Formats: sequence, structure tokens, C-alpha cells
Amino acid sequence: MTALEAPVEIGGVTVPNRLYRAPVLECAGTGDEAAVDALVDELEPTTESGVGLVFQGASVVTETGGFAAPNMTRMHDPEFVARLERLTDAVHAHEGKIFVQLAHGGLRSLSLWHGEYRERYPDRRQLAVSRPPRALRLLDRAGILSLKPHVLSTEEVYDLAEKFGRSAGYAVDAGYDGIHLSAANMGIIQQFLSPYYNRRDDEFGDGVRFLEVVHDAVRDHAGDVPLLTKVPVETDSPPFVRRRISRLSGLDTAQRLDRIGYDALVPVEVSVFWDMSIIRGAFPDRAWAAADLQSAYETAFGGPVRARAVELLNRLQARQFDRDPGWNADFCRRVRRRVDVPVLLEGGLRARADCDRYLGDDGDPPAADMVGMARPFYAEPRLGARLLEGHDALCASCNNCTVPQVAGEPGRCRTPSVVRAQARLAEKDAYERDTGAGSGSESEQ
Ligand SMILES: Cc1cc2nc3c(=O)[nH]c(=O)nc-3n(C[C@H](O)[C@H](O)[C@H](O)COP(=O)(O)O)c2cc1C
Ligand code: SF4
Repeated sequence: MTALEAPVEIGGVTVPNRLYRAPVLECAGTGDEAAVDALVDELEPTTESGVGLVFQGASVVTETGGFAAPNMTRMHDPEFVARLERLTDAVHAHEGKIFVQLAHGGLRSLSLWHGEYRERYPDRRQLAVSRPPRALRLLDRAGILSLKPHVLSTEEVYDLAEKFGRSAGYAVDAGYDGIHLSAANMGIIQQFLSPYYNRRDDEFGDGVRFLEVVHDAVRDHAGDVPLLTKVPVETDSPPFVRRRISRLSGLDTAQRLDRIGYDALVPVEVSVFWDMSIIRGAFPDRAWAAADLQSAYETAFGGPVRARAVELLNRLQARQFDRDPGWNADFCRRVRRRVDVPVLLEGGLRARADCDRYLGDDGDPPAADMVGMARPFYAEPRLGARLLEGHDALCASCNNCTVPQVAGEPGRCRTPSVVRAQARLAEKDAYERDTGAGSGSESEQ
């Protein structure tokens, strides 16, 4: 058995192997059976293909606001969350595990940047940890963003943490095996952790305190369920950002979270902004040029001029970030030396050999206890079967899927050569799994 196939324990739950599908916004919607259908359609094939653990992408804990992108899923309503038992049952039928990632966008909410949303709800405000940084205020004055911050009082911070706890409780009642926290991608948890955003002078001036209170709320409502979080360092911020989470401070945070009682950690090197540091890869020229997507971009980004401005920013950023497979591996390895809980690695992994290497199969000390991929599951929803057979993922990190997804279009691979390659493999049954319990034994009965 290779390291990838070996089971691993997270907070008392045994995950059947070390491969996970990283959290990706499914934009499945919320509140009705269609949302449940969309989540089952997206996540069941992945589990069926043998992936040990799937993370449902960022799902919002409040009744209104907090969406980072259109059509996200909310977890605040116990009646709706109970219906998601159909999803957790589907995952469990294939012996996989499913954790949901709980989130709130804070400043990074639709009311800040989404053209149509801002027109429809001109009075909606963004929850803020402190007065927003100067760069965002300047963009607001230039009419590029629409900043309407509501700075949380101490009591409101406790209330928000309680909402994370309540959603976790509903999720566990619906059969989810664990809880993940969206603490990167410029969401509100990163804003608490980051000195760029957090200038508070109450107890939450220490951002880890927020994660401590969320931990306690999750324990109150969901008991000893496995609880993990991303641990961001802001090493990839633009040069003008002076206050940022350093590596040293990220390591300290990881140790404190281990002591507080978090059951696993996902260390990530990001920027203070929601940018391409999260999804390193090529500039998506095909996606920006697609005639059928222009109106979606204009609706989302607030007109043709602003859509072109976002495109330009995207082009500049694509040059900025290197694309090493496993770009978080070095930080993961450092965290892993300091904590006792499992460490999860994601970011740019595509080759099976890299997965093995980072899990320590080549004799090096492991960088991580589990390895995950995100975009490759757009290209190959049933990728687990091929990876576990020793093959590499097809995804070329070209990012043609990401811009349409942010603009509210379905998340799927949009690069024809990759789509065709996937279809050819499907024709050859490359995504069928040999589970060992073959049909032969059934026919003998
Ligand atoms: C379309 C898209 C949506 C994402 N949504 C989330 C999310 O909801 N929560 C999160 O923590 N990360 C999110 N990520 C980041 C991924 O989890 C992952 O860290 C990143 O894509 C790098 O992995 P990859 O190179 O395998 O794609 C998203 C990435 C993409 C491309
Ligand atoms: S468009 Fe396809 S190949 Fe390109 S990053 Fe997305 S999933 Fe990967």
C-alpha cells in the first residue's frame, strides 16, 4: 500500500485514504431541492471515484450577506441543512467522508464588488473587522468598489462565532463528518488573522482569539466533530502592503490552533487580497475572449470598462506568481514539524509522483499527511480513480474555468483539449474503479 492509499485519522474519524478534493465554491444555491441535487451531482462522482475526503466549498453561516461569489450555499437554516443528508448519505454509500467548509466573506462580499448585486441592494453593507485598509478606501473613492463597512462590535463578533457553531451543529446532524473553516481567500476569518485588516483594540485584536471562540462554539453545538481550518500567511501580498501575516506569525498561529483543539490544519501562502495567489496558473485568455461570457462579466463586474480593468489585473497577476506544483509544501512542512495534528497540502498538485513525494513515499520527511486538488476535479470529476491507479491529473492550470465561475457561471473545465482528453479516457473506462468486490462474485451467488 502506498502512502496515498493509507488511511488517516482526523479528530477520531478515519478517512480511507490520503487524497482529498479541496474546497471549491460549487455555487449550487441554497434552500431548495435543486441546491441539494446540484451538490450531489458535483460531489458524489468524486467520492465514487475513490477520493477519501471531499470538502464542500465555502458555505455561508449567516442568513443574509457574506457571499463572496453568486449563488453560494447557506448553512444557517436547520431545515435546509437537514435536507443535505441526501448528500452525506450519497458520499457515505461510497465509503468516503465529507466535511463542509463554513465561511463568511466579511469585506469580500458581493455588495463590495458585484455590479448587479450592488444595483439591486444598494444599502447592503459588509461586515468588517476594523475600518477597511486605505487601498480599499481608494478603490471605493474611484468608484471601482462599493465599500459600506459595518465594523463588528465585540458582542457582534461573539454572535458571528456562535453562527459558525450553530451551522456546524446543523451540519453534523445532517451527517457531515467534519467542519472546515474558510480562513483564507480574503474571507472574514483571514481578515481577523491579518494585521492588514485587523486594527481592533478589544480581545479580537488577536485574530486567533476569533478562531478560539469559533472552536468553542463548534464544540458547544457539534461536540467533538473533527474541526480544521486553513492557516494563511500573506507572503504573496503586493509590495505596498506592509502589515501582513508573516511566516513566523503563521507558524505561531498553527501551534496555537493545535493547542486550542483544532484537529487538522491546511497551511496556505496567499495575499491579503482575493487574487491569483490562490489559483496560480496561466492567464485565462480563452475565458476572457469567449463571446458568450461577455454579458456575464459585465453583469458581475459592473459594465464593460470595469470588466476590462479586472481582465488587465488578471493578466498582470498571472505573471507574478510562480506555479510550482505543491507551492504550499514548504510552509506545510514547517507547520508539520511544530504540530501534532495532521497537515493537509493543496495548491498546484497534478502529478501522482508529487503526491507521493509530499507524503514521504520517497524517503524525505513528509510535507503533509494528506494531499488535495481543486481545479483538477473540474476537468475530471472522477479523477480519484485515475490518481489512485498511479496516473496524473489532466488539468493544465490554465484558469479558463475560474473567471466564469467567479462571474456566476457553472464551474467546469472550459479548455477544449482537456475536455476532449477527459472524454477519451471516459470512453476507455479509465474512471471506473476496481473496488475488489467485482461483479463476478455477485453472479456466483
Ligand atoms: C473556482 C475555485 C473556487 C474555490 N473555492 C474555494 C473555497 O470555497 N474555499 C477555499 O478555502 N478555497 C477555495 N478555492 C481554493 C482551492 O481550495 C485550492 O486551494 C486552490 O484552487 C489551489 O488548488 P489547485 O491548484 O489544485 O486548484 C477555490 C479555487 C477555485 C479554483
Ligand atoms: S479550465 Fe480545465 S484545464 Fe484549465 S484550470 Fe480549469 S479545469 Fe484545469
